[in-house]
Amino acid sequence: MKDFTAQSDVQAQILEAFNFRHATKVFDPERKVSESDFNTILEAARLSPTSFGMEPWQLLVIQTPEKRELFREFAWGANGALNGSAGQLGTASHFAIFLAHTGKTMKAGSAYTKNHIRQVKQIPEDVAVAYEGAYAQFQERDFKLDSDAKITEWASRQAYIALGNMMTAAALLGVDSCPMEGFESDKTSAVLEQHFGIDPTALKPAVMVAFGYRANPPAHPKTRRAADQVISWA
Ligand SMILES: Cc1cc2nc3c(=O)[nH]c(=O)nc-3n(C[C@H](O)[C@H](O)[C@H](O)COP(=O)(O)O)c2cc1C
Repeated sequence: MKDFTAQSDVQAQILEAFNFRHATKVFDPERKVSESDFNTILEAARLSPTSFGMEPWQLLVIQTPEKRELFREFAWGANGALNGSAGQLGTASHFAIFLAHTGKTMKAGSAYTKNHIRQVKQIPEDVAVAYEGAYAQFQERDFKLDSDAKITEWASRQAYIALGNMMTAAALLGVDSCPMEGFESDKTSAVLEQHFGIDPTALKPAVMVAFGYRANPPAHPKTRRAADQVISWA
């Protein structure tokens, strides 16, 4: 299979954004993402699709430098330890953590799901009951989300869709980003509970994300498997 070449301006713009985006290790600490660009990036997350439209995640944006520092010791993928810098934690214009809801909130029949279906999704009562049944069947029969950990993982997968959309929206705006799983989750949960009042039985850290403007060009050219090694057609 040949590599794809853009045929239209929109295709070219999309490809340019995807080639522009790289996992930025160090941001220029002097450059801030404008409020309106960041709001657009946040909207890309909020408007992202989620399974059953349940929106099983929260986003915590951490802008106070001292609060970011609380994660430094154990967020090895964000603290610059790998490249001798202040890392994304110390240099990003905006830094956020996606939190995945647990079964406490997301189990079929919970107060959240009942309310969400009716008040947010605005599904009328007769349809809402059927919708709840379908959601319960999906959890219990189809995806076998039969433990709190499995529901949290499912919630986390929904968060990653929003994460991807945020990074693409950012790239289209010329804003750099980095997704980060390089952190100890138990210690992150403990800090979130102690310093941010986040109940670890209700919300677990899924992934971190930083935005800003690169301090340096990417250290390596982009490498990917060839299209025919990744995609098959039937
Ligand atoms: C879910 C996820 C977690 C990642 N965690 C980290 C991280 O903790 N720290 C980091 O510097 N990069 C992290 N990365 C970046 C990847 O290493 C990077 O995307 C990959 O090597 C491809 O390079 P590129 O994004 O620059 O094209 C992560 C990427 C993803 C998608």
